[in-house]
Amino acid sequence: MPLLSNHIAVVTGAGSGIGRAIAGGYAREGARVVVLDINQQAAATTAKEIRDAGGKAESFALDVTRRDDCIAMAKQVADKVGPVSILCNNAGIARRNGMLGAAEAVINDWEDIIAINLNGVFNVTHAFLGALRASKGRIVNIGSIQSFVHLRTPSSPAYTASKHGVLGFTKALAAELGKDGVRVNAIGPGFIETPLNEKVRAANPDLVKVFIDHTPLGRPGKPEDIVGPAIFLASDMSAYVSGSIVMVDGGYRTI
Ligand SMILES: NC(=O)c1ccc[n+]([C@@H]2O[C@H](COP(=O)([O-])OP(=O)(O)OC[C@H]3O[C@@H](n4cnc5c(N)ncnc54)[C@H](O)[C@@H]3O)[C@@H](O)[C@H]2O)c1
Repeated sequence: MPLLSNHIAVVTGAGSGIGRAIAGGYAREGARVVVLDINQQAAATTAKEIRDAGGKAESFALDVTRRDDCIAMAKQVADKVGPVSILCNNAGIARRNGMLGAAEAVINDWEDIIAINLNGVFNVTHAFLGALRASKGRIVNIGSIQSFVHLRTPSSPAYTASKHGVLGFTKALAAELGKDGVRVNAIGPGFIETPLNEKVRAANPDLVKVFIDHTPLGRPGKPEDIVGPAIFLASDMSAYVSGSIVMVDGGYRTI
């Protein structure tokens, strides 16, 4: 019996990498998946892959930084698809500039990263809150090892702050929505090979080595490594789990 039958699952940033893999995994478990991404073509491709594999999916373009668009999208999904019971806030960007660069670049990084990685999670969650409360739904937010630490390899304070924020938001929301039967959890991926870090990986094999040397399982993760935990947190298998973060980092934080 599939774990997510009769669920409608929204996944943001599902045109690529981790979100695309989660969307596919939810569909394999029987959910009807709403694929959202700022990149309309990428979202359409993910939805087509799901349908070609026999699953149910539709796609819409959504920039999670645009609060009014998120509200309009929640209405559109309710009208055209149905009542949403799973929301995976996955859309995110990463940049690896510190605080000591040119002021304009530092400020741009801060504004863009917080707008997408943190305000975006708020915007989409707020927009779908009515549907999620009505369905006793589940929210799965994508955090990071940077929900806890700043990396020893280059990374921006903005990214670390945004992912600490995602974890704090997860806990606060779990506390507030528990009485409605809504569960809110996060996943903390480690180093996962996706288009997000493709250029950095290609240009800096030494940095990849630093990361892998610090990872007990001794390999980078793949998007598919996130799928099982994402299904677990969206399904009844985690019926008494809320306010948690499941680390999917090859053990990075143990050493
Ligand atoms: N790859 C890693 O190593 C890693 C590690 C920890 C956490 N994460 C997190 O996982 C999530 C997914 O990352 P990924 O590695 O799959 O990246 P990715 O670049 O492969 O995919 C991100 C997707 O988000 C979309 N997106 C970007 N801005 C958007 C916006 N404003 N509105 C809607 N969609 C937008 C992009 O178009 C893209 O399809 C992010 O939140 C990222 O911070 C990734």
